[in-house]
Amino acid sequence: MTETAAAVLQPTEEAARRPRTAKKTMKATVFHGVNDIRLEEVPRPTPGPGEAVIRVTLTTICGTDLHIVRGEYAVRPGLIIGHEPVGVIEELGVGVTGYQVGERVLVGAITPCGQCGACLCGHHSQCGHGEGYEAIGGWRFGNTIHGAQAEYLLVPHAQANLAKIPDELTDEQVVLLADIASTGFSGAESGNVRIGDAVVVLAQGPIGLCATAGAKLMGASLIIGVDGDDTRLAMAKRMGADVVLDYRKVDVVEEVRKLTGGGVDVAIEALGTQQTFETCLRSLRPGGTLSSLGVYSGKLQMPFDAFAAGLGDHRIVTTLCPGGKERMRRLMEVVRHGRVDLTPLLTHTFSLDQIADGYHVFGERLDGVLKVAIRP
Ligand SMILES: NC(=O)c1ccc[n+]([C@@H]2O[C@H](COP(=O)([O-])OP(=O)(O)OC[C@H]3O[C@@H](n4cnc5c(N)ncnc54)[C@H](O)[C@@H]3O)[C@@H](O)[C@H]2O)c1
Ligand SMILES: [Zn+2]
Ligand SMILES: [Zn+2]
Repeated sequence: MTETAAAVLQPTEEAARRPRTAKKTMKATVFHGVNDIRLEEVPRPTPGPGEAVIRVTLTTICGTDLHIVRGEYAVRPGLIIGHEPVGVIEELGVGVTGYQVGERVLVGAITPCGQCGACLCGHHSQCGHGEGYEAIGGWRFGNTIHGAQAEYLLVPHAQANLAKIPDELTDEQVVLLADIASTGFSGAESGNVRIGDAVVVLAQGPIGLCATAGAKLMGASLIIGVDGDDTRLAMAKRMGADVVLDYRKVDVVEEVRKLTGGGVDVAIEALGTQQTFETCLRSLRPGGTLSSLGVYSGKLQMPFDAFAAGLGDHRIVTTLCPGGKERMRRLMEVVRHGRVDLTPLLTHTFSLDQIADGYHVFGERLDGVLKVAIRP
């Protein structure tokens, strides 16, 4: 065999890193200001050391993207938004090993570096941008760096964040693991739900529905799902709720106390309002845990009676979506082995060109929408 032929048969490491396309630009969803996002042609990213570029094959829109578009959570104008990517490795930066261009990967919404003080203490989502901790610092996509609602995405700390997708799983089966399932399940995990527990989950939006599924995975024996939307209450049953309560029709605290003989072991807050936080607190038995996932704005108050004046042995925990490739691998295993199916939550599909329609349907909650698949 000639030297040239050998080189062809055994691609060099350099060839394995080479981009698959010569395209210099890409389509992307750019935030320009409140209620002003535009699909634009922007430069395609190239990876620096330790980084990777993926070609996005499927993404979605998060409730948090709505907060951004509506001006309730500030990001800089000019930023590409979105933080839930599934894709194919397009190009690898120097120093990223064990991957090949062309491999399918899932990347979590949160991209911990795996090396800072926060990461090494196990607080991956609070990953510091430099040294130490930074609140919410692990959430970079569509927050502090360009995000996933685009044809291509630059993945930072690629070695810690590219999770290979098993061949038998489709993009649709894994896309919701990047954020809402990781977050929802973590509500049950952080609440330390135990076999035989009674759990109430306040709000059955995408996050709450995944918290309901998470409580079931953790072994709860009675799961109470609360919402005010009939479609979502029906889906709550499908995701594992034993009982559903419509907060518009019943006194939730009273019902929960009746159903549990005094209160739940774990109450999961998945909306982010004073009302739902307080209902969670009032639904707990002494010694119970309030596990909070909602994003709050303004002031949150603790009524002394619901709080047993601080003497009820209650625990209140908050959790930001866990990310990183090991978390994604575990979640994909849960799906691969049939423990949970999230595809019923993907109710609508749009192309990237139609993303404005996707935002409209998702934002206005039209047509029974839960999550929208966006296919670049
Ligand atoms: N912790 C995290 O890492 C993380 C990640 C993503 C999103 N979030 C936050 O989680 C929250 C939920 O997100 P989502 O996308 O599921 O929201 P969503 O807006 O889609 O759903 C909210 C649900 O709450 C229901 N609701 C309204 N008032 C209610 C009440 N008083 N009692 C019970 N239900 C009520 C609505 O009918 C709706 O179904 C948001 O605050 C979001 O920003 C947190
Ligand atoms: Zn999100
Ligand atoms: Zn870190």
